[in-house]
Amino acid sequence: MTDLFDKLLKNRGPLGMHSKESYGYFMFPKLEGEISNRMVFRGKEKLVWSLNNYLGLANHPEVRATDANAAGEFGFALPMGARMMSGNSDHHEKLEKDLASFEGKDASILLNYGYQGMVSAIDCLVDRHDVIVYDSESHACIIDGVRLHMGKRFVYPHNDIENLEKQLTRATKIANETGGAILVITEGVFGMSGDQGKLREIVELKKKFSFRLFVDDAHGFGTMGKTGAGTGEEQGVQDGIDIYFGTFAKSMAMIGGFIASDDQVVDYLRHNMRSQIFAKSLPMALVVGAQKRLDLLKSKPELKDNLWKIVNALQSGLKNAGFEIGKTQSPVTPVYLNGSIPEATNLIIDLRENYDIFCSMVVYPVVPKGIIILRLIPTAVHTLEDVNYTIDAFSKIYGKLKSGLYQSDRIIPVAN
Ligand SMILES: Cc1ncc(COP(=O)(O)O)c(C=O)c1O
Repeated sequence: MTDLFDKLLKNRGPLGMHSKESYGYFMFPKLEGEISNRMVFRGKEKLVWSLNNYLGLANHPEVRATDANAAGEFGFALPMGARMMSGNSDHHEKLEKDLASFEGKDASILLNYGYQGMVSAIDCLVDRHDVIVYDSESHACIIDGVRLHMGKRFVYPHNDIENLEKQLTRATKIANETGGAILVITEGVFGMSGDQGKLREIVELKKKFSFRLFVDDAHGFGTMGKTGAGTGEEQGVQDGIDIYFGTFAKSMAMIGGFIASDDQVVDYLRHNMRSQIFAKSLPMALVVGAQKRLDLLKSKPELKDNLWKIVNALQSGLKNAGFEIGKTQSPVTPVYLNGSIPEATNLIIDLRENYDIFCSMVVYPVVPKGIIILRLIPTAVHTLEDVNYTIDAFSKIYGKLKSGLYQSDRIIPVAN
C-alpha cells in the first residue's frame, strides 16, 4: 500500500520529471503582447512560429471589436445552465446552422471544447456491440474517446489503407456476430506531421465495407479546400465524411468547436452527448465571437490566400535549403533533424536567444530517440521577410548542429 501523493511525487510523468529545469522556457513559456508574428518572450521580441492562428484572426480589428462588444453586452455568464436545460439561445442556433451549411451538412452541434467534445462524441456514438477502427497517429482526444469504448477496437498503421482493409475485414466479422456497426475515425490533417488523412481512399472503401466515417479536422477547418471547409472539400469527398469535427481553437483563434452531420445524428448527439448535457453552455460572448470569425473566414478568402503564400514560401524555401520536412500537405511544417535531447535543448536556446525565433520542439518520447522536430506553424500574418530570415537562421543552426557545437554544455543557462 502506498500513499497516492507519494506515488505521484515519485513518478512525475514523462514531462513532469523535467518540470523544474523546463518551467517557463521549454514548458509553460509566456508569450506576451498582441497575438501576431512577433511577440515578447522573457522581455524580448521574438519571431513566433508556434501559434495555430492560421488565418490571423486572433488580432483582426473586426474580431477584437466584436469580442469586446459581445463581452460588454452579454458578459461571460449568459446563458446560464446546460443547453438542454436553460442555456440555449438564438445566437447558438444561428451559429450551428451557419457551420452546418458551410460544411455542406444538414446540422451541427456546438462543443464547449474540441478535445472534450471529440472524447464525448465517440463515447456517445458507439456502444459495446460496435467496433471502432482508427489511425495509429490519432490525436489524444481520439485515443481517449476510444479508451471509453466498451466494445472491440482495431488500429491501423498511420494512413496504411491496405492494413485498414484488413482491420475492416476483422471488424466486419465481429460486427456481424454482435449485430453492431463500424465507426472509422481519422484526422483531416495530422497535427504533428502535417500530412492529410487518406480520406478519398477511405471513402472509396465504403463500396466494399459498411461503416461510417468520423473525421477530426482540427487543423483542416479554415485552412484546407477551396472555401476553407476543410480536408474533405480539399480531397473532393466532403459528402463521404459522415461526421465532421472542427475546433474553434486554431483557424478561428478562439475556444470551442462543433460537429456537423446528418440531421438525425446531430439530434441524437444533442440528446445523448454527456459533455454537452452535463455542462454549462458555451457563453454567448464566445458564440458571437465565433460567428464573427466564421463570417470573416467565409467573406475574406484573402486570409487563406495569405496563409498559403507564406506556407508555400516557407516549405519550398526549407526544402531548397536542404531541410527534411517530411510528407506535409498542409500549413503544419515540421523540420526533421537528428540529435540528442541535450543537443535539441542547446539548439532551441540558441534559436531563441541569438536569432530571436520562437518555435516548438518535439523530442523523445513523442518521437523516437535521436530525432528532433522543430514544428513551424505559418500564418496569414507572417511576412516573406520572416520566412527568409527563418530559413537563413535555420541553415546556421543546422551547420552548428552538424559540427557538434550543441554537444557541449548549455550555451545559455535557463533561469526561471
Ligand atoms: C487533431 C486535434 N483534435 C482536437 C484538438 C482539441 O481541440 P481543442 O483545443 O479545441 O480542445 C486538437 C488540438 O490540439 C487537435 O490538434
